[in-house]
Amino acid sequence: MRIAVLSDIHEGLNRKNTQTDLMGLLHKWMAAHMPDVFIIGGDMTAGPEKSLALLNQLQQYSPRTKFLFVHGNHDIYHEDSKAAHELLLQFPGNLGNGPVELNDDWVVIGEGGWYDYSFGIPGFTEEQFSNGTYQDFTWPDKIYAHWPGADREQTDRYILKLENWLSEYHGKNIILVTHFVPLSQFVLYKDDPKWDFFNAMQGSFRFGELALKYGVKKYIFGHIHTRYHEQIEGMEIICNPLGYYPHEWSHQTAEEEIFSTIKIIEI
Ligand SMILES: [Fe+2]
Ligand SMILES: [Fe+2]
Repeated sequence: MRIAVLSDIHEGLNRKNTQTDLMGLLHKWMAAHMPDVFIIGGDMTAGPEKSLALLNQLQQYSPRTKFLFVHGNHDIYHEDSKAAHELLLQFPGNLGNGPVELNDDWVVIGEGGWYDYSFGIPGFTEEQFSNGTYQDFTWPDKIYAHWPGADREQTDRYILKLENWLSEYHGKNIILVTHFVPLSQFVLYKDDPKWDFFNAMQGSFRFGELALKYGVKKYIFGHIHTRYHEQIEGMEIICNPLGYYPHEWSHQTAEEEIFSTIKIIEI
């Protein structure tokens, strides 16, 4: 079974900045490669209505591929992020609806996740991270995402949900998917508080702990726009974002960037 992996397409911004029909290119890639499953690790675009429409479009153009999705922070930018989360559950392949068994051996479990400041640096209070402002920059989620409670509470909800599913499928070969970062080694520390302060908003080590506790075979995440594919403690880790044009891309055209970035793994 062939599983394609991509996250952080940021369709709206990248379409505007490249003046290219990114969806058309994704359809073209699909027609050429036809994977059995396509896992999209969040940040499809900004706002739930647009993300949902793009996901439905992908699925309708390639009905023989099963598209699976977890939301990113940009997908739930809305005055009521809980309602945004619920709207995105209308996409049948949203892993927030429950685990998806690929065959007798393999199951995909996932949710977008959130952050609890556990990747933050010392010297700041919970309140400072919660406000999300350092000097003159405010983390965009603090302006555009609106959960009913604190960030930590939102993270707790995801941890609980994922652990219930992980324990239910314990013993199976599990592919775990979150948008947010599960392990500190994938968080970039620059020894500069102007950057490192915002690492608090990258994810939570608790997602990584869960994965190790339940012997997850493959962990797919996104959010950081740096590509990784490596083995850690017996777990295959894949972070495969498209990221922002132009500074995070290595090719001149959107077609080259998309076609060279989408990764196919086999189970
Ligand atoms: Fe992103
Ligand atoms: Fe993100």
